[in-house]
Amino acid sequence: MAETDAEAGTDPYREELALLIRQTRARLESLTRAGVAALPRSAARPPAVRPSPAAVAAASEPIVAVPPPTPSVERPRPASPPPPSPAPPRPAARPIVAPTMFGTAGFESPPLDPANRPGALAVLREEVAACMKCAELAASRTQTVLGDGNPAARLMFIGEAPGGDEDRLGVPFVGKAGQLLNDMITKGMGLRREDVYVANVLKCRPPGNRDPEPAEVANCIGYLDRQIEIVRPEFICLLGKIAAGTLLNTALSVGRLRGRWHRVHGVPTVVTYHPSYLLRAPAAKKEAWADLQLLMRAMGLAIPRKKG
Ligand code: URA
Repeated sequence: MAETDAEAGTDPYREELALLIRQTRARLESLTRAGVAALPRSAARPPAVRPSPAAVAAASEPIVAVPPPTPSVERPRPASPPPPSPAPPRPAARPIVAPTMFGTAGFESPPLDPANRPGALAVLREEVAACMKCAELAASRTQTVLGDGNPAARLMFIGEAPGGDEDRLGVPFVGKAGQLLNDMITKGMGLRREDVYVANVLKCRPPGNRDPEPAEVANCIGYLDRQIEIVRPEFICLLGKIAAGTLLNTALSVGRLRGRWHRVHGVPTVVTYHPSYLLRAPAAKKEAWADLQLLMRAMGLAIPRKKG
């Protein structure tokens, strides 16, 4: 999409204007994709004035392009073996309400006041810390790793499970993969790590960093569902095949899932490669950058021009 002159400006007013133009354009494109051919004329508005910072801040919140639901290409998750521990397996059908075009209606409760979200996460953290559902993980972990970041973040990243560094420090994505994720967030998206929320499917480190067992995912997924419910992000980015397979109920590869929109609890969701994979296969960083740009456009974030 070609940038307008206003988008090229460096003066803050021009940047605010460019942001509003991008967001409006994205929303109109989303409406067009949804089959809306014309918009009703609204009541007369007051004459246009230079927007105040508060107005700009308010406008930048709800005016985002929420993409339409994707056609259902995901297959049901393959049947998992019976769990070794007593906790009941997760029901196959997740209680997700049909999403509205612009809302995130797939939640069971109304959003928590942002001021109450840190407290709600603290309660969940205590509960997770005492969890003994997976005997092997409970016996081998140093500590549980719930999540990290802004409890009212617009964007939530979801990875697989804590590794050795995370198990030691109690914070997700702090090892080598975490450093790459930080670069993706800061150098790529122009955000700060503390602006977003980062979590994993599992809250305990699987011994030897093996893949999570289906029964472990079944035991743990309710905690992640509650994190998503509390943080109520506007956008989700799933990192790698375990997060994507679990949250989208699919066996499709990341290569098949990336580059387009999905929904988790009604929240517009993008899939990309796990940072650990990107460390092993740096050629895939180009596609991961394209996935981040997909998110950035929908979030109304400026995409840096290519250095020529
Ligand atoms: N890999 C993950 O998926 N999560 C972490 O927290 C660290 C590495």
